[in-house]
Amino acid sequence: MTIALEPMTPGHGARIKGVDIRAPMDAATVGEIRAALAEHAVCVIGHDTPPTDEQHIAFSGLLGPMERGAGAQLSGPNGRVPRPEIIDQGNMDELGEIYADDDRRLAYKRANRLWHTDMSFYDNRATFSALVGHAVPPSDADTQFIDMREVWDALPESRKAGLEDLVVSHSFWHSRVLGGGPEPTEAERAKNPPAKHRMVHLHEPSGRKSLYIASHAFAIDGWPPDEARGLIEELMAFATRPRFVFAHQWRLGDVLIWDNLATMHRATPFDDRVFKRDMRRTTMRERAEASGNSRVA
Ligand code: OGA
Ligand code: MN
Repeated sequence: MTIALEPMTPGHGARIKGVDIRAPMDAATVGEIRAALAEHAVCVIGHDTPPTDEQHIAFSGLLGPMERGAGAQLSGPNGRVPRPEIIDQGNMDELGEIYADDDRRLAYKRANRLWHTDMSFYDNRATFSALVGHAVPPSDADTQFIDMREVWDALPESRKAGLEDLVVSHSFWHSRVLGGGPEPTEAERAKNPPAKHRMVHLHEPSGRKSLYIASHAFAIDGWPPDEARGLIEELMAFATRPRFVFAHQWRLGDVLIWDNLATMHRATPFDDRVFKRDMRRTTMRERAEASGNSRVA
């Protein structure tokens, strides 16, 4: 055993000690990190200085096939973070300045403050996300999590009945509008169609069942829209009870990894007109993709 684990918060998540993602890693250590993720679903590895983008990408490749997306587009043609494997989740423009108030990227990122699971609007879903803190505000801006296996286990048997047969539609646009963004055009909708997934799935790394809903979920096959929304809202209200919620308080150099197939997460508010927050994410997928995608929430 080369790594050591401590709870991130009492009863939730794991802080992994004794490993540095900036250095080459042997297969046994990777296996231990995967085992920690399988059990805890959210893990953090601290560093005295943040890993470079190259080190971040090299480490992420050990966890599965990586999304190659629109990171460079989001950051502009002379992108702040030009690597297509890295999604810019910060509040800074190409010159490293805090976004102007009317920058549409600011509104776009606000949807991260809704409970969500990354990329559930793809057929080929996100497995792990690995987020690196390159600049962190002195307070606030925690990332909060809920372990959806724990939520499933806690649901009354009477409520569980029937849920396993349901198929849910997830849409990128649903969460953009829910987050306060404008209605998309028909052309935009057609370009980014929804994806369908079972409401309850077996989380293979842990062998536990997990509920898979969150902010992109908007419809249930064969259900009237109002009833579908009602059930999703009821389950979200149950899942977001304070007893299930835990938070990561960022320190510079932290690498926070979560399993999207077992959790929901959200960003929390901070004074984003005053403090720079430079966060960069890689995202792993269920299967390797032949070409890149352009939706990154
Ligand atoms: C993400 C995300 C939350 C945060 O990177 O996918 O939702 O706290 N981030 O930045
Ligand atoms: Mn996210």
